[in-house]
Amino acid sequence: MKTRYLNAEDPGAVNEAAEILRNGGLVAVPTETVYGLAANALDGKAVSRIFEAKGRPQDNPLIVHVSSLEEIPPLVRKVDPRVYDLAEAFWPGPLTVIMKKSELIPDEVCAGLDTVAIRMPSHPVARAVIKASGVPLAAPSANASGKPSPTRASHVRDDLDGKIECILDAGECSIGVESTVITLVTDPPNLLRPGGVTPEELETVLGKINISHAVYESLGEGEKAQSPGMKYKHYAPAAKVTLIKGSFDKYEKYLKAHKTGICAVCFEGEGKHFPVSVEYGRADDSLTQARSIFDALRKVDETGCDEAFVRCPCADGVGLAVYNRLLRSSAFRVTDLDFSIPVYGITGQTGAGKSTVCSLFEKAGFHTVDTDLIAREAVRNPEVIENLKKAFGSDIFSDGELNRRELARRAFESEEKTNLLNSITHPVITELAIKEIHEAGKNGAKAALIDAPVLLESPLAGVCDKIICVTADRDTRLQRIMQRDGIGIEDAELRIKAQRGEEYYTSHSDIEIRNVKPGEAVLQVENILKEKLL
Ligand code: TXA
Ligand code: MG
Repeated sequence: MKTRYLNAEDPGAVNEAAEILRNGGLVAVPTETVYGLAANALDGKAVSRIFEAKGRPQDNPLIVHVSSLEEIPPLVRKVDPRVYDLAEAFWPGPLTVIMKKSELIPDEVCAGLDTVAIRMPSHPVARAVIKASGVPLAAPSANASGKPSPTRASHVRDDLDGKIECILDAGECSIGVESTVITLVTDPPNLLRPGGVTPEELETVLGKINISHAVYESLGEGEKAQSPGMKYKHYAPAAKVTLIKGSFDKYEKYLKAHKTGICAVCFEGEGKHFPVSVEYGRADDSLTQARSIFDALRKVDETGCDEAFVRCPCADGVGLAVYNRLLRSSAFRVTDLDFSIPVYGITGQTGAGKSTVCSLFEKAGFHTVDTDLIAREAVRNPEVIENLKKAFGSDIFSDGELNRRELARRAFESEEKTNLLNSITHPVITELAIKEIHEAGKNGAKAALIDAPVLLESPLAGVCDKIICVTADRDTRLQRIMQRDGIGIEDAELRIKAQRGEEYYTSHSDIEIRNVKPGEAVLQVENILKEKLL
């Protein structure tokens, strides 16, 4: 099918779009929130084509758009009188209200539910098209299912060209995130999706409302979604998205500890600090963030990066909608860099005695985050197992157990393979380590000490306030490794050779602890604590 492009300002464009809709066709129509993919809401066959074009799951119902209050009574079983109060305050505008539906609404629109979602948009073009077509319009956002919603006609074209009859172009949408969805069927009313109308604003009209927990967290396994749209992956670029909480300084340091191939999705003026970035709105302004977030998520894929780290917006007011969309686009993957305790890293060559030094700090109330232990847990993560099998052969697991020695042999064959192993395990180790730091804080630890042989190459270096390295001369280290691991001198030498020289560790650390003579480390740790060097 050839998709027609009409400039909404051209005379006749609105009438032409209305004509297509009356004939059962699909038209992408601009609204103040996002572009909608419209069909005649009273024509089940036309509506079912929306699902086809978007690749939308059949059980996800659509919003019916009207241009005046008079159009509502035939669509619902009984008009809830609160709709008039809501209309007075927020319509036309970015609010969708759910009520019990009438027989007039085809099953295709409400996906078999007995309720219907109704909205009166404020965009003059949307209103003109509804009026000219003479029917209510069922319209979901005009994106391919799962992708970020479209806020420009070009976004619609990228997703739906050739699949729909027409795109009506009226420039950029002014709000940029979809409408607030509230159901009046429950008592108290339940906010299912935050949007341009805030919970506080709704409460001025409705009194106490409930905010669905699905706004903040993923649905529990087997839990039924009150709004089917809540359960699907949504707003997601192809790149893996993680939301980062914390100040800009923490964000910058953390991102810089990552290898290349990552995109910083940050606020205006911050992008220049990163090799690859996309900006979305001003740090202190939810409205500008809402306007540009979907465009920014689409731009992430244009950068070619396979991973994006997004600055977390403030979740107040309209910001709740931005935060909610980002939670969904990241599949609820959030990294919180705001720790309640200081975080230190401890590193050094093998045999230098990192564990000994950690246990000395533990006596002073520090909690050691042992990344070796975490790595063992990480290789039990199903996604990691899958990726390790793909990268190194499925025979590195037998009876569900990882053959660690064999994995090490294959992975340390070349730098490329070592990097591959790291790229699979480091993100999960990082996530688990950060979780452990937060828990340590809650449990009253004075500080967290990340014990990691490859700390300096890991993103975890980016969460450390200071880095300590433990050093010892080569002979001492050789003796310790042989004793600790029960291996001969040749094997011990090989291990030492596989690591970088001492200078590398000391030059990347803030504090050095020399650990050769008995008691030597104890004195230094005491001194560090006494002098408050950490
Ligand atoms: O701003 C908007 O609302 C845009 C523009 C085009 O108006 N439309 C939009 O539609 O975002 P859509 O289909 O992408 O999102 C509609 C949301 C979905 O999460 C859906 O599950 C929910 O509303 N919904 C629709 N009807 C419902 C119903 N009867 N009960 C519960 N949830 C419903
Ligand atoms: Mg949508």
